[in-house]
Amino acid sequence: MRIDILTVVPELLVSPLNESILKRAQKAGLVDIVIHNIRDWTTDKHRHVDDYPFGGEAGMVMKPEPVFRLISHLQSERHYDEVIFTTPDGIQYDQREANRLSTLENIIILCGHYKGLDYRIREHMVTREISIGDYVLTGGELAAAVIADSVVRLLPGAIGDEESALTDSFQDGLLAPPVYTRPAEFNGWKVPDVLLSGHDARIEEWKEEQAMERTRRLRPDLLEK
Ligand code: ADE
Repeated sequence: MRIDILTVVPELLVSPLNESILKRAQKAGLVDIVIHNIRDWTTDKHRHVDDYPFGGEAGMVMKPEPVFRLISHLQSERHYDEVIFTTPDGIQYDQREANRLSTLENIIILCGHYKGLDYRIREHMVTREISIGDYVLTGGELAAAVIADSVVRLLPGAIGDEESALTDSFQDGLLAPPVYTRPAEFNGWKVPDVLLSGHDARIEEWKEEQAMERTRRLRPDLLEK
């Protein structure tokens, strides 16, 4: 898989994408993550990536030309399955969308900035607009990092324990059950007996009950879906 991330603040993406699982996955050749500075695709002396909005709103708007040039250049080199734009008014990101994106070959993630992006780029070049939640970030970079992280961990081989991405919270529409490790008793607090019983069927049943109980209590909206 290849993920191209287009940003006016590349520095924001360096560390989140170059540690831990994402670092290993790139080293192992499971994914290529390429960060592009939109400013490198300007042609004016001052390398402007934004301008005043027509119609006199407050704030600046990302100019269309550098973004258009960069996306066109990338598309002339390979086919992209999606051109994603990170924006608070996009569709709400969730595990189902992460799963879908993880099956694609090449994706572009364009990070929003300033007051927004010239709407012609959204209409003519972007194929998917994604929000990571109902709150406003300074820019779309952290959203792009969230998307890249959640997608890459799903790629076969990215996670050591093959099972572990499949048993994540949300993967079956439920929150994950509680987990424990040694010691079996700590500070007078005990691990539930059933987990120490060695009885696989009973342990599975307990995990399912716990997942259901936690979901009902903490995220009843997931059960309605
Ligand atoms: N840019 C600013 N806020 C955002 C959000 N909540 N999701 C995606 N991109 C954003």
